[in-house]
Amino acid sequence: MPFVFLLMLLIWFVSPAAAGAELEIPAKPDDFMTSAALVDGERLFRIHCARCHGMLGEGGEGPNLKRARLKHAPDDDSLYDVIDSGIRGTGMPGTFGPTEDELWHVARYVRSLGALPAQTMPGDPVRGKMLYESKGACATCHILAGYGRGVGPELTEVGLRRNAEYLRRALTNPDADHPMLSGRMTGRINEFLTVRVVSPDGEYEGLRINEDEFSIQLRDLNGEIHSFDKRELLGFEKAFGHSLMPGYELVLSAGDLDDLVSYLMSLEGSS
Ligand code: HEC
Ligand code: HEC
Repeated sequence: MPFVFLLMLLIWFVSPAAAGAELEIPAKPDDFMTSAALVDGERLFRIHCARCHGMLGEGGEGPNLKRARLKHAPDDDSLYDVIDSGIRGTGMPGTFGPTEDELWHVARYVRSLGALPAQTMPGDPVRGKMLYESKGACATCHILAGYGRGVGPELTEVGLRRNAEYLRRALTNPDADHPMLSGRMTGRINEFLTVRVVSPDGEYEGLRINEDEFSIQLRDLNGEIHSFDKRELLGFEKAFGHSLMPGYELVLSAGDLDDLVSYLMSLEGSS
């Protein structure tokens, strides 16, 4: 038996799947540069992509695609691959079952969006950075460029992920969106689920980290992890639709909000 196993391992090693890295991206179709390809790409985009990237590629739950440089798709082949396979560990799903030509048409349309003028910022990102550091205690819940504590999503590259409208909503109405940023796209796991627990030694609120039939672990706002045996709990509530993040609509002036949104838009990590 071990021999058969070894043989299989050997076959696997020399097979192209294990050699891996070299991606097989099909050649562009002959009609790639025609307007017919663009029109077809736009049609497919509206059906399969617009619900996350906006009707005109302006973004929403997914990033604004009207930018000359796409982080995950610096060239056409990588763009094809992103559309075909999605981006692992993010909310970008894989393929919708198109033909190779159709996939190239979508890629062509996405490239055409990059030639459009970029999103304009509603305010001043430099002032927004000062607000981020001085008001709202953002860094107590977010990591940005290595600083802060990470109960909420990391913000270092949030400008690549989200558009202006989404970012404004995240600040004014945090309950509206609950991003899934983990790799566990099992549909039911909500990465940012708030849970409240009443145990014999007190009440706790935090983000669920892990849960099974018998136990639940949460991380509270101080970053501390607590683990509970479910059978010992006096109360247990999953607050779907409730964010741990406070709303800033009443805390910040309209101008401050514009500046903060602009700062978040500018966060694209290091290139
Ligand atoms: C369910 C929502 C959803 C759908 C549907 C979706 N996307 Fe995305 N897409 C995302 C998210 C979220 C990201 C950002 C991933 C990240 O980096 O965190 C993304 C990222 C991308 C990127 C990379 C952007 C960059 O800056 O590198 C491209 C390109 C892209 N999507 C194109 C498409 C196309 C084309 C379609 C339709 C075939 C599509 N997406 C469908 C949510 C979606
Ligand atoms: C008490 C903790 C807490 C504080 C304080 C906080 N946030 Fe958040 N934030 C979160 C959590 C948790 C999420 C995850 C989404 C949700 O549950 O709404 C989040 C989500 C976000 C998002 C959306 C990220 C994405 O990719 O979807 C942005 C942007 C954001 N916060 C910015 C800020 C800014 C700017 C401040 C300061 C003005 C701030 N947050 C203060 C906890 C916090």
